[in-house]
Amino acid sequence: MNLLAVETSCDETAAAVLDADRRVLGSVVLSQDEVHAPYSGVVPELASRQHLKSIGWVVEECLYRAGLKLPGIDAYAVTQGPGLIGSLLVGLSFVKGLAYYFHNPLIGIDHLEAHMEAAFLEKPGLPFPCLAMVVSGGHTSLFFLKKRFHYQLIGRTRDDAAGEVLDKVAKFLDLGYPGGPIIQQLAEKGDPKKFPFSPPRMKDGSLDFSFSGLKSAALKKIKETGMSKVHAGLADFLAGFEEAIAWAVLDRFCRAAGIYEPKSLVMSGGVARNKRLRMRFLDFAREQGLEAYVPSPQLCTDNAVMVAGLAVEKLKSAKRKAWGLDLDAYPRFIS
Ligand code: KG4
Ligand code: ZN
Repeated sequence: MNLLAVETSCDETAAAVLDADRRVLGSVVLSQDEVHAPYSGVVPELASRQHLKSIGWVVEECLYRAGLKLPGIDAYAVTQGPGLIGSLLVGLSFVKGLAYYFHNPLIGIDHLEAHMEAAFLEKPGLPFPCLAMVVSGGHTSLFFLKKRFHYQLIGRTRDDAAGEVLDKVAKFLDLGYPGGPIIQQLAEKGDPKKFPFSPPRMKDGSLDFSFSGLKSAALKKIKETGMSKVHAGLADFLAGFEEAIAWAVLDRFCRAAGIYEPKSLVMSGGVARNKRLRMRFLDFAREQGLEAYVPSPQLCTDNAVMVAGLAVEKLKSAKRKAWGLDLDAYPRFIS
C-alpha cells in the first residue's frame, strides 16, 4: 500500500508518499517564507493563494521522487485542522478530488496529533504514558497521551504561541523573518544571565501558557536599553529571551510530570528546532530519568511525512477519525 498525504495548514505546501511500513518514498516541503517575509508574519489570504499556485507542482514532484504515478497510490490523507481555514481548504479540496477520481479511501488528520506523531515515527518504542508538547508558530499545546491515539489536551497558550512571540520580537528589532532561526543564530554566543527575564507563569497555577506577557517584557526592555540589531548586547538579550521561553516550556513539563507520572516526554513543532530549547529539554528529561525525544529538525516544522505516518497507522488500526469525501476543515483544535 502507498499513501499520499498533503499538508497545507499554514504556510508550507507539503506532500509525502509512505508505504505500509512507513518508509518515506517521497517528500516535498515548499515554504512560503519569501511571500510572508515583507509582512514579518503569515498573511492568511496570501497563504491560501500561494497553496493554490503550488499544490499541483508539489504533489507531482513528490510522486516523481517516489517513482510513482497517481494510479500507484492506494490511499490519501490530508490535514483537516487546526490551521488557517483557507489554506486547509486548498489541500482538502485537492485531495478530495483525487480520492473521488481514483475511488480511494481518504483519511483526515489532526495537525497537532501529526506533529506529535513525528516523534513516534522516528522513535517507535517510546513508552506510554507520555507527555507531548507542540511548540510552533501557531500553537503551544501540552498533551497527555495515556496510550497510542488517546490524547488529552492539558495545557495551551491563552494568547500568543511561542513561535509567534519569537517572530514578533525579531520584527521589532528588524532582524528578519521567520524570527526563530535568526534569533537562535544571533543568540548562540550570548550570555542569558546578562538579560534575565521574569519567567511567565499563569496566576491560577494551571498548565496553560501566556506568552504575551513575555513579549511585552521583551519590548519594554528593548525600549529601556535602546536595544537594536547593532547593539553590543544583542546576543545576550536574545539568549535571555530564548532562555525564558525554554523555562516556560520546561516548567509545564515539570509540573505535568508530577501530576501525570509519564514514562516519556516528546517535544515537536517548529520552535522545537531551537538548539537551546532542545538542549534544556533533553537535560531535563535526563535529570528526571525519563525517556525523551525531539524529532529531527525537518520533521519538527510543518511537513507531510508526519501526516502520512499517522494516517498509515490509523488505517492499520482502523482508528480513523474521519473517512471519505464528507471531510471538512476545522480552524481550531476540537479533539
Ligand atoms: O511548526 P511550524 O513550521 O509552523 C506552525 O505550525 O506554526 O513553526 C514555525 C515557527 C516560526 O514561528 C519560527 O520562527 C519557529 O517555528 N522556528 C524556530 C526555529 N525554527 C523555526 N524557533 C526557534 N528556533 C528555531 N531554530
Ligand atoms: Zn505545525
